[in-house]
Amino acid sequence: MSLTRVLPLPTGLPWRTAATTPAQTRAVAAESRRDGSLVRINGLEKIYATKDGQTIHALKDVNLDIGETEFISIVGPSGCGKTTLLKILAGILSRSTGEVTIHGQALSGPSREIGVVFQAPVLLPWRTVLQNVLVPVEVQKRDRTRFEARARDLLAMAGLAGFENKYPNELSGGMQQRVGICRALVHNPSFLLMDEPFGALDAMTRETMNEELQRIWTESRKTVLLVTHSIPEAVYLADRVVVMTPRPGRIVDVIPVDLPRPRTLAMHNTPEFGRFVARIRAHFNSAGTLDT
Ligand SMILES: Nc1ncnc2c1ncn2[C@@H]1O[C@H](COP(=O)(O)OP(=O)(O)OP(=O)(O)O)[C@@H](O)[C@H]1O
Ligand SMILES: [Mg+2]
Repeated sequence: MSLTRVLPLPTGLPWRTAATTPAQTRAVAAESRRDGSLVRINGLEKIYATKDGQTIHALKDVNLDIGETEFISIVGPSGCGKTTLLKILAGILSRSTGEVTIHGQALSGPSREIGVVFQAPVLLPWRTVLQNVLVPVEVQKRDRTRFEARARDLLAMAGLAGFENKYPNELSGGMQQRVGICRALVHNPSFLLMDEPFGALDAMTRETMNEELQRIWTESRKTVLLVTHSIPEAVYLADRVVVMTPRPGRIVDVIPVDLPRPRTLAMHNTPEFGRFVARIRAHFNSAGTLDT
C-alpha cells in the first residue's frame, strides 16, 4: 500500500498552483535570485528515510538567494518542508542534493554566522535571563566577559532592561520569546533563522512582537529568514515573501513587498497591504491551510 493511502498527506489538499504557467515559473525564478547575496540555495532537495523503510520527499528543487540585510518570510502549508529548510540552513540537518553557500562558502555544519530562534524559546529554567542569552557564547567557547555587555545591550534593546537576573518562569510568554531572540543574536550572527517564533502568542502580543522584531532588525541589520503561518505577519515584516507548495516543498511564488518602512500596524488596513495578502492567500485553498 502506498504511503499516501496510509497517511493524510497535505498533497491531497486542493492547491491552486496546478495552473502555474511557464511565464509564472520564469517570474518566480527571476524573483528568487539576487545579486550580491549572503546566502545562495541551489537545487536543494531533501528526502527523509523513515524508520519503517519508506522515503518522504520533503523538499524539491528549492532555489533562493537571500541578500545582505534582507528580511524574507516563508509561508506554506503544514508539512511542506519549512522547518526542514531552516534546519538545513542552520547546518543541523544534511541535505540530499543541492548546495547552500553563505558568503560564498559551502555550508557544512553549524556556523557562527547563524542564529536560530525556535517556535518555543526553550530557555533553561535554572538559568537567569542573562545566563540564558549567553548560552551560545559558552557553547562556542568564546569570551564570556566580552559578550556579557552585548547581551545586556540586546536585552535593553528588546525592552528587557532590569530583567537580566530574573528567571524564565518570572517572565511572560512574549518576554521569554524576546529572550530567545536575544540569545540568537548574542554572538552577532549575520543570518537569523526564525521558525514560527510567535506561533504560541496571543494576537495582541504577537503584533507587539512583530513591531519589536522590525525594530531589532532595523537596528541590527541582520539577514532574516522567518517561517510563519500568518500571512499578515509575513507581509508586515518582509522584503520578499516566499510561498511554498505542499510536499514535496517547492517555491511557487516570490513576492517583493515594497511597502515603505518603517511599517506600522495601521498599514494592515490599507488596500496595498490587502493586495499582498490576497496574492498570497490565492495560493491556498478555501479550507485554509494558513492562519489569517
Ligand atoms: N526526521 C524526519 N524523518 C522523516 N520525515 C520527516 C522528518 N522530519 C520531517 N519529516 C517530514 O518531512 C515533511 C516536512 O516536514 P517539516 O517539519 O519540514 O514541515 P513544516 O513545513 O515545517 O510543517 P509545519 O508547518 O507543520 O511545521 C513532513 O511530511 C514530515 O513528516
Ligand atoms: Mg515546521
